Amino acid sequence: MRTGLIRQAEYTDFLKSVPIFKNLPEDTLIKISDVLEETHYAHGDYIIRQGARGDTFFIISKGRVKVTMKIPNSNEEKYIRTLSKGDFFGEKALQGDDLRTANIIVDDPEGVSTLVIDRETFNQLISDLDEIRTKYKDEQIDRRRLNEEFETVR
Ligand code: CMP
Repeated sequence: MRTGLIRQAEYTDFLKSVPIFKNLPEDTLIKISDVLEETHYAHGDYIIRQGARGDTFFIISKGRVKVTMKIPNSNEEKYIRTLSKGDFFGEKALQGDDLRTANIIVDDPEGVSTLVIDRETFNQLISDLDEIRTKYKDEQIDRRRLNEEFETVR
């Protein structure tokens, strides 16, 4: 059986290899390793549903997911992109109001593992990183429309 400390060292090692964390000091990575939760999902699972409320940030430690978005006035979803090991998602609901702006769906027959970080840790240690602040800055998200569109399902 692995002890908590060994696991923490494994997480810290992995976080060192994650591009957004490249400038973070080791003690910050250890703090993050202390509080993160590892979660596993099966092929086809929705890790995040667009329009749902959420307060967690994810880093992929194994496997691939696809990002999709609902096409307005339709039941169809549009493929946006694929994310894999070392990529992150879920930051947007933590930046504005707490609504998820896209679906995140497991796209890997072997499943996906993620490291999940809560809102408080995200705010304290991660939200100010350049890569998080500037991600999709040029992409205009009309949050009011998104809110209205999902008013009925909440
Ligand atoms: P959040 O809105 O919390 O939940 C869905 C996530 O999908 C979102 O955070 C981003 O991490 C991710 N996402 C949203 N739009 C895009 C996009 N255009 N390209 C890549 N990822 C996206």
